[in-house]
Amino acid sequence: MKSKIYILIGPPGAGKGTQAKNIANTKGFVLISTGDLLRENVEKKTELGQIAKSFMDKGEFVPIDLVAKIIKANIEQNLNKNGFLFDGFPRDLSQNILLDGMLKEFDLEVDKVIYIDVKDEAILERLTNRRVCPKCKKVYHMKFNKPKKDELCDDCGVALATRDDDKPEVIKNRLATYHKVTHPLVEHFEKLGKVIRIDGSKSPKEVENEIISNI
Ligand code: AP5
Repeated sequence: MKSKIYILIGPPGAGKGTQAKNIANTKGFVLISTGDLLRENVEKKTELGQIAKSFMDKGEFVPIDLVAKIIKANIEQNLNKNGFLFDGFPRDLSQNILLDGMLKEFDLEVDKVIYIDVKDEAILERLTNRRVCPKCKKVYHMKFNKPKKDELCDDCGVALATRDDDKPEVIKNRLATYHKVTHPLVEHFEKLGKVIRIDGSKSPKEVENEIISNI
């Protein structure tokens, strides 16, 4: 059976990372989150991570050759699994052409795009109050999705961290880039009848249920 290919799309702070792991676990998909993979490289201070950091801290795209390397390796290692869930890739039309090419090599194609729709007004509050577990990467919000104890991860007990790119001026840049080059992908996939639109303003659990029931 062919692997299913799903893509999670939405503005920064839409809740892609919050949902991605649960969806992948529930459906038995391999999760490929370019943001997480790049941050892992930054933490480990790999050569790739050191180059990536300078772009990520400004809210700019990391050069595509670096991102492509990570993605191809992940697809190759996980072929024959139920499917793949991409979070953070493709991010513009040219990255989509690249993805198409990679998938064709393995006789695969995009099945559906899950578009988490959240209005710009909500984004700043979501991202400035975001905290992330540095160990297991679980995402929290200090108002909407608080850890049970202080600023400690419920699962690992380690102190939560703030992402370097969650500064207001960087958030503005990421949001502007989203509208200019990433959102056109939603329009592209809409023409192909592949978009599942999800109202991301609902609670995380409601959003999760809506996604799971649609795929
Ligand atoms: P990436 O990590 O992909 O960042 P992003 O797309 O900007 O998205 P975020 O991770 O900020 O938001 P999210 O939608 O995951 O929201 P979350 O679930 O955390 O990329 C980071 C950088 O890496 C890029 O800027 C770029 O430099 C580089 N990069 C990545 N991919 C690349 C590529 N393909 N090419 C080149 N460069 C690339 O939720 C946000 C907050 O809201 C949390 O606090 C959460 O608890 C809360 N929340 C979530 N859902 C809800 C809800 N339903 N109600 C209330 N609060 C909620």
